[in-house]
Amino acid sequence: MNGQKMQCVLWSIVMLTAGLGVLAGCSRGKVSDMQVTGLRCEYLANPLGIDEPEPRLGWMLESPVRGQKQAAYRILVASSEENLARGVGDLWDTGVVESDRTSQIVYSGKSLRSRQRCWWNVRAWDRDRHGTAVSEMAFWTMGLLDRDDWKAEWIGMENPDEEYVRQLGKNPDLPLNSPSYLRKAFTVDRTVAHASVYASALGLYELHINGRRVGSDYFTPGWTQYNKRIQYQTYDVTGLIQEGGNVIGAILAEGWYSGHLSWMGSRWIYGTENSLCVQFEIEYADGSSDIVVSDGTWRCTSGPIMYSSLYMGEMYDATKEMPGWDTSGFDDNGWRLAVIREKPEALLVAQRSQPVHVTGTITPVNMSEPKKGVFVFDLGQNIVGWVRLKVTAGPGVRITLRHAERLNADGTIYTANLRTAKSEDVYITRGSGGAELYEPHFTFHGFQYVEVTGFPGAPAIENITGIVVHSDTPPAGTFECSNPLVNRLAANIQWGQRGNFLSVPTDCPQRDERLGWMGDAQVFIRTASYNMDVAAFFTKWMYDVADAQTSEGAFCYISPSTTAVEGDWEAAPAWSDAGVIIPWTIHHVYGDTRIIEKHWNSMVRYMDYLGAVNPDYIRKNKLGGNWGDWLSIDDDTPKYLLATAFWAFDARLMGDMAEDIGKTDDAEKYRMLFARIQEAFQKKYVSPDGRIFPLEGDVEKVGSYPPNHNYTGGIGESQTGYLLALYLDLVPGDLRAKAAEHLVRKIGEKNWHLSSGFIGGRLLNPVLSGTGYNDVAYKLLLTDTYPSWLYPVTNGATTIWERWDGWTKEKGFQDPLMNSFNHYSLGAVGEWLYGYVAGIDTDPAAPGYKRIVIRPCPGAGLDYAHAVYESIHGRIVSGWKLEGSTFTLDVTIPPNTTAAVWVPSDEGSAVTESGVPAGEAEGVTFTGREAGRASFEVLSGTYRFTSTVSHPKEL
Ligand code: BGC
Repeated sequence: MNGQKMQCVLWSIVMLTAGLGVLAGCSRGKVSDMQVTGLRCEYLANPLGIDEPEPRLGWMLESPVRGQKQAAYRILVASSEENLARGVGDLWDTGVVESDRTSQIVYSGKSLRSRQRCWWNVRAWDRDRHGTAVSEMAFWTMGLLDRDDWKAEWIGMENPDEEYVRQLGKNPDLPLNSPSYLRKAFTVDRTVAHASVYASALGLYELHINGRRVGSDYFTPGWTQYNKRIQYQTYDVTGLIQEGGNVIGAILAEGWYSGHLSWMGSRWIYGTENSLCVQFEIEYADGSSDIVVSDGTWRCTSGPIMYSSLYMGEMYDATKEMPGWDTSGFDDNGWRLAVIREKPEALLVAQRSQPVHVTGTITPVNMSEPKKGVFVFDLGQNIVGWVRLKVTAGPGVRITLRHAERLNADGTIYTANLRTAKSEDVYITRGSGGAELYEPHFTFHGFQYVEVTGFPGAPAIENITGIVVHSDTPPAGTFECSNPLVNRLAANIQWGQRGNFLSVPTDCPQRDERLGWMGDAQVFIRTASYNMDVAAFFTKWMYDVADAQTSEGAFCYISPSTTAVEGDWEAAPAWSDAGVIIPWTIHHVYGDTRIIEKHWNSMVRYMDYLGAVNPDYIRKNKLGGNWGDWLSIDDDTPKYLLATAFWAFDARLMGDMAEDIGKTDDAEKYRMLFARIQEAFQKKYVSPDGRIFPLEGDVEKVGSYPPNHNYTGGIGESQTGYLLALYLDLVPGDLRAKAAEHLVRKIGEKNWHLSSGFIGGRLLNPVLSGTGYNDVAYKLLLTDTYPSWLYPVTNGATTIWERWDGWTKEKGFQDPLMNSFNHYSLGAVGEWLYGYVAGIDTDPAAPGYKRIVIRPCPGAGLDYAHAVYESIHGRIVSGWKLEGSTFTLDVTIPPNTTAAVWVPSDEGSAVTESGVPAGEAEGVTFTGREAGRASFEVLSGTYRFTSTVSHPKEL
């Protein structure tokens, strides 16, 4: 028996004994009521082609029993399905590990090589040491880990017009380039056991094999800082290959790399020529293998896609289709040979987040004809994506689809806010007799309305279908309450996220911008993480943030940056600080220390940069864009105040993160830094009566962008000034209550309206509820007069608007130069809906919802609220209702976690759980009272608490 076989036999014995529960004192025979589900590798379900050499594994537990938890686990990772089925973890067998950990478990088995296939499962033991059934099998595969693994060349199509090429980059009015079609025929003469394809592009690509599209991803390889990092995707194409003739085909388009990007006609930011890199690997049943790569033998041509541009749209001439171009037997003699392009120097990395997918379709709710032959379809929802057109016509009929978010008063589409983005798709019919279906390929639009012209006759609703497209981050949260307008607001926040999370978090999907603005991302990430599982999405984006950091240390304020070479970006307050806030938040929500470790040096360089340019602890130098509390309403916040507060924020988060990754010295250093900034802040901005404003009367009118928007910073008190000071502990303890009073005064002065912008908008309600003014927070939530969260809702919004006054009854549309109707930032109140109204949060001391906090804050105007959140540890529910003075709170806490549950209840009244005094209920321990609430330590399980609560008073 050779060594390897011997090892297998030994493993089998170990596994069998473990299965019988003999190991580690596990009790014999009984199967646990607990189930292991939702296996994830690097946050993804069964990912293909990852390049993390030590990927992190995790799972969830389900159990109907209160207080259930994991006492031990065993992970098996096998190099073949058969081995795993036999219980042999030849790559990694953790043995029975005494641990309650279920996430962020770092693979520490045999070192993984390129292309390695890893099958894995998990078995857990519960608190009574009963073993669970072994989980369902999951898998991941490794990508191409070494540059040398890549044998493929980067190829493209020579542009026929040399003059055109010469002009690239100089003339913004040049027509759009056509995508190229590339193909390679090859023969397979043996039985195929497995086939994989690895693909990337500078530009966007769509792969086909034997007439079928490979995978269902869009906008591959995704947007990154292309001069530093380019992603590749891995697909299992075993099922697409056939014995005999095969063809691999690709369509290559401009995308972010060389298309229009940023604003006002800017294009060719990263490069001018697109190229494709494909490596197709076949393993035969007889053990031999073959490889087909992109090289100079591929053939290429232009085809029916006349152009396809992210901002401008697509023109598709179906009369130019080349039937069978991606199948064998097609005559490609008229096609040219592909040219070999220079290999990019950037890192080629595996895609590490969910790809962009079609996640839904929408049937229009209405069609009108505001002008003869001009048909306008209303999807009833502002979406991101495109439409599918269905048409029956003769050949060469040109149908134009224009997209818009709103309508003009005369019912025609309002396109002024698109700036230079045309968002227009043109389809020229094939005319083959039957119905033709058309969807564009490499463009997306932000729209609710589609204008159709050129349609033969009058179209019907069924001729148009809305296609919803975004990064396929799994849904995680739902929020519902008794007020339908608030429910619509919650839905609008979700839709805003869906539309703007497309490869990177972007600002607006309709106009010529669509950039990874970091201020927007940092205010919204916490809300985003309630709505969806964004762990992988932001893990990927943090590399874009780090790649865009300047050599001086400033995080950029747009990531990926819109300069291919390093620009002279400075650190814009509240925007660049996302470089620190994002890793902290991902750690907070998912218990992820790796994101901190990976970016620690970048963050330290950033902090060093801030320190070096601001020696007196007031941040007033190198403030870059310096947008202050962007888009506040007549309530500017002093710019240095805001900047200094964010520096303090960074210092505090750095201190916490240093602690969490065991860097005790750094933790101390950043706490000291926080204390210094706090001291400087108090001296400069906190008056003895708790007011917050520049005490020396400094006019902090610095930086203005855009010039005509008068964003010059405030000189006095502002809602956001108070919010920052209170949220970040910049007010001395004895003045906190006073400062909160002043904040409330400021809100009262606006007749109980908010006036803060992007930055303060996030903090308003959490700070109010947290400082004893929950009633004011509810008042702001439920106000529907301008400016408020519900004003757009009552005016037909189906997404979050960029500006409080994007449209008002009195003034109509805001300045079309900057007026998006789908911009998630002002939706950052979602965090308060989940975290305060429903009351679900994680204990910061046990990140990743290992210890959960359920602390609902009911308020006047709502009779019930209910939220469900799929945390990394499983499903959490908090739902309350108030009938008369009877308060009912339904809570679900996932196995293997505990919770502090704060039940609103009047002083002296009893709290029960499922009919028994709560403190005596199974899994519940009474821990104390505070004004208006009783607190309990609660084990996992499902509970119904009942208490008496006098109805919250309206303000
Ligand atoms: C974007 C924002 C961004 C801002 C910077 C705008 O054009 O749409 O969302 O944060 O510029 O202030």
